[in-house]
Amino acid sequence: MESNLSPLHIMELENRYGAHNYHPLPVVLERGEGVFVWDVEGKRYYDFLSAYSAVNQGHCHPKIINTLLEQAKKLTLTSRAFYNDKLGIYEEFVTRYFGFEKVLPMNTGAEAVETALKLCRKWGYEKKGILDDQAQIVVCENNFHGRTTAIVSFSTDPDAYTHYGPFTPGFIKIPYNNLPALEKVLSENPNIAGFLVEPIQGEAGAYVPDDGYLNACYEVCKAKNVLFIADEVQTGIARTGKLLACDYENIHPDILILGKALSGGVYPVSAVLSSAEIMNCIKPGQHGSTFGGNPLAASVAISALEVIKDEHLAEKAFQLGIIFREELSEFCKTSKVAEYVRGKGLLNALVINNSSYKDLAWEICLKLKDGGLLAKPTHTNIIRFAPPLVITEAQLKECLEIIKITIRGVE
Ligand SMILES: Cc1ncc(COP(=O)(O)O)c(C=O)c1O
Repeated sequence: MESNLSPLHIMELENRYGAHNYHPLPVVLERGEGVFVWDVEGKRYYDFLSAYSAVNQGHCHPKIINTLLEQAKKLTLTSRAFYNDKLGIYEEFVTRYFGFEKVLPMNTGAEAVETALKLCRKWGYEKKGILDDQAQIVVCENNFHGRTTAIVSFSTDPDAYTHYGPFTPGFIKIPYNNLPALEKVLSENPNIAGFLVEPIQGEAGAYVPDDGYLNACYEVCKAKNVLFIADEVQTGIARTGKLLACDYENIHPDILILGKALSGGVYPVSAVLSSAEIMNCIKPGQHGSTFGGNPLAASVAISALEVIKDEHLAEKAFQLGIIFREELSEFCKTSKVAEYVRGKGLLNALVINNSSYKDLAWEICLKLKDGGLLAKPTHTNIIRFAPPLVITEAQLKECLEIIKITIRGVE
């Protein structure tokens, strides 16, 4: 469906007919390839959001798109009422790829988190022996795990939870990056079934915990027979410079949650992985999704994961992330508004000093757009920089120049 509408008209349509649950940058995109996207007037931009890290493999990766097209011509959806010829192959592939015994396929990240919570509770009752309706799951402050009613019940962000109550009980919030807080809550409460954690808090602004934190949490969980649940929806699949952010601390989570780049941003595909002992707590009829595990998703995910290995995207993200943070850290030393940069691999955030002007980070993003680079603030004063991992070193350096020149321009 071609349209010749002006960008203003298209934005106005969204404003008038769509729910106002997002605040997009004023740019209307119509095409993407690799690290680039183009707007309806043909202007090219570096995409430094990557659809919140879903497009790690780059926009419209030819191998993934080809798989999508070929499979779409054959079979798209059967529901799980029947077997399809792709799901089993994908399940073997993805479990071996990440080193787990079982996978439960879903579609979006939030659905996968919900699945993990249900699985954890079931395990708590049926394996750990917690009395009915007593199970608790420990979560971290400033978390972001999605937007469903149960998930926002344990959010600490007022935008995420206000007026969505009454909230789902059974969650205990503790500070992130605080091992004693976890030790205390686990020693005081025998009904804890799991600890749900982001290895790096992405939405909070690429907040990286201290070295050793995750590993120590994992050990504490093991000692107390509590499941360590890693939400790698944003950090996983090469984004942070390893296949999983947990790999930095050699942790094998009891439950791993993946989404976003599992399909290269081509199609909603998410997954929960665990041991057979844990996964077998869920029996036929006890959980599911019409679209989860469909042959299109299964085929696309295999190709998307192959691209990660074939193109060494984890290694690339690791190397390029070092260059990115080194250059921006150097720049911050002499900048009046750029305070510091943090992150791992190509999941990074620049903290902006907005004490004199609250919307400065938004202003910078508008100017970055004019300079040909798309990024978006998170939490008012933090700009997340997360380009597709297929970006080259030369392109990254060009982008660093755009960022530096833009920020100098607002100082
Ligand atoms: C860590 C984490 N978990 C879960 C989600 C939710 O994923 P989705 O938006 O696909 O539901 C996100 C999305 O940003 C996320 O960053």
